[in-house]
Amino acid sequence: MGHDKIRQFEREDLAQVIQINRTSLPENYPPYFFISIHENNPECFLVAEIEKESEKKIVGYCMCRIERGYTLIKKKGHVVSIAVIEEERQKGIGTALMKEAIKIMGDKYNVDEVFLEVRVSNPAVLLYEKLGMKATKTLTSYYRDGEDAFRMELSMKEVEKKI
Ligand SMILES: CC(C)(COP(=O)(O)OP(=O)(O)OC[C@H]1O[C@@H](n2cnc3c(N)ncnc32)[C@H](O)[C@@H]1OP(=O)(O)O)[C@@H](O)C(=O)NCCC(=O)NCCS
Repeated sequence: MGHDKIRQFEREDLAQVIQINRTSLPENYPPYFFISIHENNPECFLVAEIEKESEKKIVGYCMCRIERGYTLIKKKGHVVSIAVIEEERQKGIGTALMKEAIKIMGDKYNVDEVFLEVRVSNPAVLLYEKLGMKATKTLTSYYRDGEDAFRMELSMKEVEKKI
């Protein structure tokens, strides 16, 4: 990725992250939503930063939340939102964000699995499959416009130093 890096989100990144979210996805959130996820899960809210002509710019983010399953036994890492600006897509940044998020959620938060929801029509499904994630459920009319979602999961047992 040359002069690109993946690092933890910082408060000063908020405006850029919100801008990327609003221009990339129909699922948008108020600023406090990003802030509270960051406060509760500081290490797994990541951004991709590039440096061009000594100007730093955030080009993508991956915002994750640590959750418990219904039985409270399993710890799960939920990829709540991920996006990369249009001009920088298809260069591996989304994959790099996901790999780092999975690694951190496994190493630092000790999750048993990582999961996310994705529109059934979204080509990002392929990206997640390449990382070993599997669609385990179809969530009917999950999105406001009526589209279904796949719930995709990755058991950390399967990861064990694979990525
Ligand atoms: C999903 C997203 C974050 C991927 O970021 P990215 O930096 O483009 O990802 P990568 O370059 O690592 O892509 C890896 C693979 O994902 C798949 N993929 C992702 N987006 C794709 C697209 N729009 N068209 C075709 N394939 C795509 C491809 O298999 C690609 O592999 P390839 O480059 O070998 O073809 C980005 O496309 C995005 O921001 N999309 C809009 C927001 C969104 O849908 N977020 C996901 C919500 S669950």
